[in-house]
Amino acid sequence: AVTPLNLIASLNRTSFPDGFIFGTASSAYQYEGAASEGGRGPSIWDTYTHKFPDKIADGRNGDVAVDSYNRYQEDVGIMKEMGLDAYRFSISWSRILPSGKLSGGVNLEGVRYYNNLIDELLANGLQPYVTLFHWDLPQALEDEYGGFLSPHIVDHFRDYVEVCFDKFGDRVKNWITLNEPWSYSNGGYAAGSLAPGRCSDWQQLNCTGGDSGIEPYLVSHHQLLAHATAVKLYRQKYQKTQKGVIGITLIAHWFVPFSKERKDKDAAQRALDFMFGWFMDPITSGEYPKSMQSLVGDRLPRFSKEESKMLEGSFDFLGLNYYTANYAADAPEHDPGKPSYLTDASAKLSTERDGVPIGPTTASDWLYVYPKGFYELLLYTKSKYNNPIIYITENGVDEVSNATLSLEEALVDNMRIEYHDQHLSFLRNAIGDGVDVKGYFAWSLLDNFEWANGYTVRFGINYVDYEHGLERYPKLSAHWFKNFLKTTTTHT
Ligand code: BG6
Repeated sequence: AVTPLNLIASLNRTSFPDGFIFGTASSAYQYEGAASEGGRGPSIWDTYTHKFPDKIADGRNGDVAVDSYNRYQEDVGIMKEMGLDAYRFSISWSRILPSGKLSGGVNLEGVRYYNNLIDELLANGLQPYVTLFHWDLPQALEDEYGGFLSPHIVDHFRDYVEVCFDKFGDRVKNWITLNEPWSYSNGGYAAGSLAPGRCSDWQQLNCTGGDSGIEPYLVSHHQLLAHATAVKLYRQKYQKTQKGVIGITLIAHWFVPFSKERKDKDAAQRALDFMFGWFMDPITSGEYPKSMQSLVGDRLPRFSKEESKMLEGSFDFLGLNYYTANYAADAPEHDPGKPSYLTDASAKLSTERDGVPIGPTTASDWLYVYPKGFYELLLYTKSKYNNPIIYITENGVDEVSNATLSLEEALVDNMRIEYHDQHLSFLRNAIGDGVDVKGYFAWSLLDNFEWANGYTVRFGINYVDYEHGLERYPKLSAHWFKNFLKTTTTHT
């Protein structure tokens, strides 16, 4: 049997302010499975994984995933056993509105599933933090007008979130409109590595068409407008009676200047503007970052006065996902001739300098461990954006799925314990320096379908045995978390 490690006992939940929330995060397509059960309509992730299996590392998909649709009670039990306070999950739009639209009818079986999950969480002392859109757009809306490429999406998103506020808002008090709009635009329309897999760049393989100089900007623009519209609706019609809060989840890497030279420092700032400021500036000041306005020019859509006003201040809290850092160097010649989001920032990103990686490597080629960047990002956010309320909605690390390991060996994840411990230390320091962080969610509760990596990497603090009936087992990190949480005296 595996014995809990008392590794690094310096931190525990009493190192954080009273009422600080600890949870784990998940998303519908990565967890639920039951893709054609319960009246769910198809999403762009069903289409993408089935049409382009070569874009997924193991050629697999989320048809079954980790079957949380059928095992949600067991999963809530795992969270309760660990002593967690909250669970972040997402609602599948096409499980609620199979055609994407209200006019196509509400799927009551889908509503029932989320009602059951929410009730199960609350009955076990866990607060639901609900993401309304975590990338699984109803296929019908992609087919009809190109999904987020079109402004039509805004009204349909509004209708969809209204169903959610109406059906679940009596019990859900923390809403997140979008998960990582940057990843959706960059992965789906520039890098071509996430659904719908569009890209036109000379450097990218397997591009499926589109215009990466235009589309990522349009898609982000419409995501921002959809977000602000949802917040406006919630505030006008639901917030007073339901007494909840609403925010958005953004991802940001930290960018370390490649050298001490001014031009590389500027490049690092531009890289941050093009990933984080792209969304953060509009929701705080109603405008895109100046650097983007000048570098992207006419290709960057504009907000009308009214839209700017609607965007400004359109969040009660910021959800922040932090995983890693990159070096950024000035790259004035980086544009290959055809404009692309990937080169517009004139910043060359890298993960090593003189052959030395920026931090320890992990199973994902984009994830290098750099906990100090977490602190830097939090301090930057506090000073640049007027100290917003923040929840860390994701932070975590992965190992390779290795079939040659015995189950017992596969549960030993000391590197994950170290990762969380280091990031929590820097988080505590940031809070000590006045950053207003109210909670921390680990990615992820379970191993799951990790998008382009399929099931080849494992981010779970609990292991899923894909070979034997999707059985769940706590990894050492789950024991560590339980221990970390146990020490409370003020936990309600
Ligand atoms: C975040 C996403 O970007 O990173 C999660 O919000 C995702 O959904 C996580 O699972 C890990 O990334 P990846 O690409 O390895 O699945």
